[in-house]
Amino acid sequence: MKFEKIMAPKGVREYLPPESRAFEWVREQLIAPARLAGYQLMELPVFEDTNLFSRGVGESTDVVTKEMYTFEDRGGRSLTLRPEGTAGVMRAVIEQNLDRGQLPVKVWYSGQYFRAERPQAGRYRQFYQVGIEAIGVDDPAIDAEVISVAYQGFKRIGLQNFVLQITSLGDSASRSAHRIDLMKFYEKLNLDEVTRARAQINPLRLFDDKRPEMVEAMSKAPLLLDYLSNEAAANFEKVQSYLRELNIDFVINPRMVRGLDYYTGTTFEFIHPELGAQSGIGGGGRYDGLMEVLGGQPLSGIGFGLGVDRALLAAIAENVLPNQSFKTDLFLIPLGDDAKIAALRIAGELRNQGISSETAFGDRALKGAMKSADKSGARFVIVLGEAEITQGIVEVKRMEDGSTSSVKIEQLSAELKTLLNSDARSARN
Ligand code: HAM
Repeated sequence: MKFEKIMAPKGVREYLPPESRAFEWVREQLIAPARLAGYQLMELPVFEDTNLFSRGVGESTDVVTKEMYTFEDRGGRSLTLRPEGTAGVMRAVIEQNLDRGQLPVKVWYSGQYFRAERPQAGRYRQFYQVGIEAIGVDDPAIDAEVISVAYQGFKRIGLQNFVLQITSLGDSASRSAHRIDLMKFYEKLNLDEVTRARAQINPLRLFDDKRPEMVEAMSKAPLLLDYLSNEAAANFEKVQSYLRELNIDFVINPRMVRGLDYYTGTTFEFIHPELGAQSGIGGGGRYDGLMEVLGGQPLSGIGFGLGVDRALLAAIAENVLPNQSFKTDLFLIPLGDDAKIAALRIAGELRNQGISSETAFGDRALKGAMKSADKSGARFVIVLGEAEITQGIVEVKRMEDGSTSSVKIEQLSAELKTLLNSDARSARN
């Protein structure tokens, strides 16, 4: 009987070697600035109570109405695979009383997120984000810090061509004033039932409507930025002046609409023009009401989520990935049973010293084993036979040019370190 192959579910993005190396590197660059700025890791469940997202992310969003992976568990509870990270962080902060301690709570996270979107290049049903949240202090300096952490991540990758767009959704006074005029504007528009309902839940949502007639109509809509209260305007000014001080280039986009409902105040997006339709490589903003809506105190927060998949695509588009074909330092070829044990022991000791080491398996003849050594891309190779073990001396072969040197087994780690260092030095020169 012949079994059919089982394929990965539609729209998921997976990373296999050697590409996974580039993915891992990009993710590391995005995380590093968060660690350096004192953010600490939060590992959270990938599924949560469905109410967390319908209440937290918002009923007017595509994410909640169309894209959630929701299922019932065996106890009849409605659970949802997390479509984003902020609501889960907030749930955990409230549940574990972190908001009763030192503020701001500063955390980073990284992992898979799930949205049942129509898959296309750069848009997946399972994708990866690196994010941070700074919760509990409302100070424009934190807004600037959060934006700069994201900015530094993209810069560490070496990206040059991305654009940072920012805007402010103001405070509740600004939004109420704007809402009145925007709703009056909508009354003149002959909107269909569904669109009117969306506007009721979140009037800003229609700025995001991609239908040509709506784009045209909305080009005349009143803009929230023109309705900022004095306080909100001063706050947004401050954020901009801090960004200028930090030499972070930005443009103001008064029509930006984030895909999630919890945003207030400063909001931002990083756009990469070489990625086509899915050009958002990261985004975030402040969320004043979220903690309260989820049953906590009325504390504000700000954060971002960066798309690792898209950052990798941007790095490929700009050709900035470092040339780092994965190379093991040493490949050991044992000949015979005693040598096999010795090889495993030596490889273990070298790994403890930070020297990456592989051994040949499967009792292959020397020729076959040398082929594996070649394929592994190892820098150095050692053949370990009876003679080498009795004498305690091995020949270390440098694969690049075939040169060899005799080394005492007990001095192997020190000698290899010297050889690897001198190789690294000449590669730099
Ligand atoms: P978001 O804008 O929905 O924000 O997602 C952040 C980033 O995740 C996007 O800019 C994009 O790079 C990536 N992304 C989103 N959906 C997909 C997809 N289907 N395929 C590939 N990449 C995708 C949030 O999720 C907020 N939680 C960010 C935040 C944190 N705001 C405040 N704190």
